[in-house]
Amino acid sequence: MKTIRDYETVALDDENGAVVIIDQTKLPGTTEIISLKTGEEIWDAIYLLKVRGAPAIGVTAAFGIYLLAKKIQTDDFDTFYQEFQKQKDYLDSSRPTAVNLSWALRRMEQVCLANREKPIAEIKALLKAEALEIKEEDIRVCKAIGEYGLSLVKPGDGILTHCNAGQLAACKYGTATAPIYLGEERGYHFRVFADETRPLLQGARLTAYELFSSGVDVTLICDNMSGTVMRNGWVNAVFVGCDRVAANGDTANKIGTSVVAAVAKRYNVPVYICAPTATIDLSTPTGADITIEQRPAHEVTQMWYREPMAPEGVKVFNPAFDITDHDLIAGIVTEYGIAREPYTESFREIFARKKERDSHKFN
Ligand code: MRU
Repeated sequence: MKTIRDYETVALDDENGAVVIIDQTKLPGTTEIISLKTGEEIWDAIYLLKVRGAPAIGVTAAFGIYLLAKKIQTDDFDTFYQEFQKQKDYLDSSRPTAVNLSWALRRMEQVCLANREKPIAEIKALLKAEALEIKEEDIRVCKAIGEYGLSLVKPGDGILTHCNAGQLAACKYGTATAPIYLGEERGYHFRVFADETRPLLQGARLTAYELFSSGVDVTLICDNMSGTVMRNGWVNAVFVGCDRVAANGDTANKIGTSVVAAVAKRYNVPVYICAPTATIDLSTPTGADITIEQRPAHEVTQMWYREPMAPEGVKVFNPAFDITDHDLIAGIVTEYGIAREPYTESFREIFARKKERDSHKFN
């Protein structure tokens, strides 16, 4: 039977000029595949979390900017590039915290700049190839993160995760779920606890859904239950994804991650952040320098309820992400290995490895 993991989170339909996504706001009840054709449709889909999760946002933006660039009618590079930048900046403004968005768009921009002498038609073809490569790379990167992550746990372990850093947040495997899926294929039989993740319920609607439909032993808990399952000794490791890692190892991820990390410290449970190197932003010195997206009040007060569950007009604070301080993190699992304190040094090694392997092309 077809499961949610048989669908592509993000795909390119070049013939019809569309980015094709699963509308994640409808999951788990309805699997609706939608086509995004205009800049506004792509921007809205990212802002409204129809497509979400740092890697999936990056891939969507890459396909999006390619399709928008394809529509630019000119033979003059400067005119082309000016319009390209306008569209790029627009897409980049859809969500501020996940660095994969600007990272993917910058990669696409580099393709334009490096090929400025070529005919516009050729630049467009190169943009398509780059966008497809960003997607393929995500699959290879997540698998590599899965292998490194798997080396940190043993068969039968309890794993807690927060939000959705699963296949629905990427292209296959996910980041935090990659060790779980690879372990499942190898008979590890993990017991996974999925935080529901208030206010937008990515843990309940998406993580519990994709793990459950893949046959993983998953138990859904409310966010305020992670202390209980850890105190009971049911959790051997926490695996979460992230939206941006600062140069000192401070990490922005879905709101509530820092609470899980603080509780985990209390119960000596290691917290591993699964992060493609694309999510590590060395130009951001610390977590304090990361812009945290603020979202509208109705997401907290009424969005997932039949009627409002708070007095009308009450003040609401709704940051979408929080910062987990680096000293609460046992390791940052990348596709080039596991970084540990001091992060400034281990990131230097990770990026040196990346540079070395990129010269032979990562696979
Ligand atoms: O607001 P969201 O649903 O986009 O938040 C997603 C997360 O916080 C994920 O943990 C993060 O993007 C990593 S996805 C591999």
